[in-house]
Amino acid sequence: MCGIVGYIGPRDATPIILNGLKRLEYRGYDSAGVAVLQDGRIEVRRDAGKLQNLADLVNREPINGAPGIGHTRWATHGAPSARNAHPHLGTTGEVVVVHNGIVENYLDIKDELSAEGIEFKSDTDTETIVHLVERHQSTGLDLTEAARKTFQQIQGAHGIVLISAHEPDKMVCARIGNAGGVVIGLGDGENFIASDIPAILEHTRRVIFLESHQMAIITKDKVVVQTLDGKALQPEIHTVSWDPVAAEKGEFRHFMQKEIHEQVRALTDTLAGRIDFENGRIRLPELNLTPELAKRIQKIYITACGTAAYAGMVGKYLIEKIARVPVEVVIGSEFRYSDPIVDENTVVLAISQSGETADTLAAMEEGRRKGAVIWSIVNAIGSQGMRVADGYISMQTGPEIGVASTKAFTAPLVNQYMLAVLLADMRGVIDEKTRKQLVADLRLVPDLASQALNTEPEVEKIAMSLKDIRDCLYLGRGINMPIAYEGALKLKEISYIHAEGYPAGEMKHGPIALIDENMPVICLAPKDPWHEKMISQIQQAKARGGTVVAIATEGDELVNGMADHIIRVPQCPWMLSPIVTVIPLQMLAYHIAALRGLDVDQPRNLAKSVTVE
Ligand code: G6P
Repeated sequence: MCGIVGYIGPRDATPIILNGLKRLEYRGYDSAGVAVLQDGRIEVRRDAGKLQNLADLVNREPINGAPGIGHTRWATHGAPSARNAHPHLGTTGEVVVVHNGIVENYLDIKDELSAEGIEFKSDTDTETIVHLVERHQSTGLDLTEAARKTFQQIQGAHGIVLISAHEPDKMVCARIGNAGGVVIGLGDGENFIASDIPAILEHTRRVIFLESHQMAIITKDKVVVQTLDGKALQPEIHTVSWDPVAAEKGEFRHFMQKEIHEQVRALTDTLAGRIDFENGRIRLPELNLTPELAKRIQKIYITACGTAAYAGMVGKYLIEKIARVPVEVVIGSEFRYSDPIVDENTVVLAISQSGETADTLAAMEEGRRKGAVIWSIVNAIGSQGMRVADGYISMQTGPEIGVASTKAFTAPLVNQYMLAVLLADMRGVIDEKTRKQLVADLRLVPDLASQALNTEPEVEKIAMSLKDIRDCLYLGRGINMPIAYEGALKLKEISYIHAEGYPAGEMKHGPIALIDENMPVICLAPKDPWHEKMISQIQQAKARGGTVVAIATEGDELVNGMADHIIRVPQCPWMLSPIVTVIPLQMLAYHIAALRGLDVDQPRNLAKSVTVE
């Protein structure tokens, strides 16, 4: 999972690909590779570590030709190494693939292919794609049709590019779900593919963005776009600005919108390198957690500000449920003034996108002064929040530019889930079956986010009907209670509408007095252990004349007829439900603010990182 670049045309693909990958370097990666068609054969060069290692390798063992594809990888399945780096060849050596995403059903496919005698040369899920393509080719299908069949077989969200030595005049690519973009750059007698525009901006400004469940067959003179089931499409050609900042926004109007949509990739990247799906184990080496430390921890304080604090509140449910360690969430600005009870068996876990928020850093300092173990979950690499901690988890989501935080909310949900499983494992409080199930469920995360993004058309309609409201109430229970807080925060931050998040059970102790036809109530009612309780809250809100918007699970009949609007989110294990419930709320806030014509990325009076008390 990370950067993809492809080229077809008269020039040598290798330098074009290496330069393109260089432009995506800031997204982070642990290995890289390139494959080109040279004299009728596919030649591959791959190496672990920085792109310079790959460039040095290509200098020592040059490859020239076209078409070609390249990739920077952040490991999800299998360690970061040359053999696990993309591109991956099949058995015949005649087809090669690069891929962003997780093949959710790869274990089943791998078992099936292995039983047929196919030998896997890497530990990746990606390799299954190229073997499937070869299997379909062996029945007489060409690359396009073999790829099409393969795209229909694999589960999850993906960006994929393939080339074949047998069909040197084409590249075949697909976007399935929202695993980052697939951008096709249109040149003159040459064409390009990239996961992100900056990779190809020096060559062309004319681009096509593939939508989900679309594939393209690209020759040097032509781009044919189809649905995965073969229907021809007339894609829109966009002209992007040369300005790198504007280009970085790509097909989106605002960074916030882009970052909301980037969450499938961000969540895949946050899992990268940390999960051993085969043995059901979590690796978080930078946390420096030892079994000895895991066993002596008696309490965890989570401290953070704003959106990060609400992520921490979800973490409390996860860590207490999975690892059975008491967790208290204290807002960063309060921690040092609350005389917290801290000793060497206490962990202070700070969560921060920027790693520079003054109040969060002060809370870490207070924890340090009192002898606690200091951990952080931070997005900005090299920030203070990362440096001063005894151990950290990097969110690995890439820079977040919109002031209202989105991907830096969902990533720490997954990070805390992983932390909880690792802690539980080391403390010996979890049986093997539960641990393996919890780890296996993580495989669903990118696709769940992708499905949650698919609610956008419905969310936009609701945004249209709510854009002129003055107040709004968000209600949630249990693990989705903090999502009510976060939904309300998003709305007030960027649309300047007064919004309050409330634990739904508290409604009867106050907020119910506010509900009338002028007070919309957003109810988080997914299928989680608090579902039925939420249903009765919806009934109460409705009985007072409020306009009810319910976030409910697909197939849940109970809400039908009760809410004025229903946003349907995918079924999922309840501990992952905040990911699917928060994404529609991020989009709701975004669309309301955009409809009101506001400066979404830089809302008044707010700063991206608040470095003063
Ligand atoms: C500011 C931002 C929020 C963010 C908070 C914490 O208030 O506007 O979006 O949640 O700071 O920032 P951090 O960088 O510590 O996550």
